[in-house]
Amino acid sequence: MGKLIAVTGKGGVGKTTISALLVRHLVKRGNTPILVVDADPNSNLNEVLGLSVDETIGSIREEMAQRVGELPGGMAKHDFLEMKVQECLVEASGFDLVVMGRPEGPGCYCFANNVLRDVLKMLGKQYPNIVVDNEAGMEHLSRRITTSIDHLLIVSDASIRGMLAAERIRELVDELKLTIGTMHLLINRVHDGLSAEVEKRVKTFGAPLIAAIPDDGIVREFDGSGRPLIELPDSSGTVRMVSEIADRLKI
Ligand SMILES: Nc1ncnc2c1ncn2[C@@H]1O[C@H](COP(=O)(O)OP(=O)(O)OP(=O)(O)O)[C@@H](O)[C@H]1O
Ligand SMILES: [Mg+2]
Repeated sequence: MGKLIAVTGKGGVGKTTISALLVRHLVKRGNTPILVVDADPNSNLNEVLGLSVDETIGSIREEMAQRVGELPGGMAKHDFLEMKVQECLVEASGFDLVVMGRPEGPGCYCFANNVLRDVLKMLGKQYPNIVVDNEAGMEHLSRRITTSIDHLLIVSDASIRGMLAAERIRELVDELKLTIGTMHLLINRVHDGLSAEVEKRVKTFGAPLIAAIPDDGIVREFDGSGRPLIELPDSSGTVRMVSEIADRLKI
């Protein structure tokens, strides 16, 4: 299994941005191939990576239910799944993207989650690095998509609400007894430094602060014009800081 880097945190704090820039960094360094997993049902990582996606893991479920009686001669369910997962992979330069998406039709996310777990097991061995962009909140951690994470980045903005959400995630990590190599807090989109109250919470957070990334005009500019963030120039402060984070994590 390659090194698994998971990015988590409250909604809108920059998980997808950080994930995309980690991928950008790894590609630039030639630390490839990377398996990029968009584990957010409201997926949009593909957009910031400049890719379009036809099939998601969520859509396999329906097809599986319909076709299970007519699988090609002797093909087991697992092999069919493996074949479909390969079809879901979007190949790009230096990395492959797999999108979890939303399961179609009624029912819960269990199937998609189970498949995602299998995908990580199946494909994880073929990639030295795996970057997982999670949905907001703690769903994936609590559903134990993976019990072992090499580097966990808990992202917050510079608000107390962001920090409280980050603290809940950190507590859950302890409760679930997940195996974590390193765990860091990352504060993103900082405007005028950190308030005294946030600084206090940083000190008692229980995992070190790896970076406080300032709000970045170039990221906003790209965002406004819909340009993929993977094309951000080296001069972007966010790009530089994410590279420094990767260096500190030795990835
Ligand atoms: N350092 C930054 N400077 C300026 N804008 C930023 C920065 N980081 C992220 N953003 C912007 O903040 C918004 C939210 O970022 P992003 O989509 O990465 O968050 P998210 O945590 O993945 O959100 P969601 O929970 O909806 O998946 C985007 O418009 C993004 O361009
Ligand atoms: Mg996101």
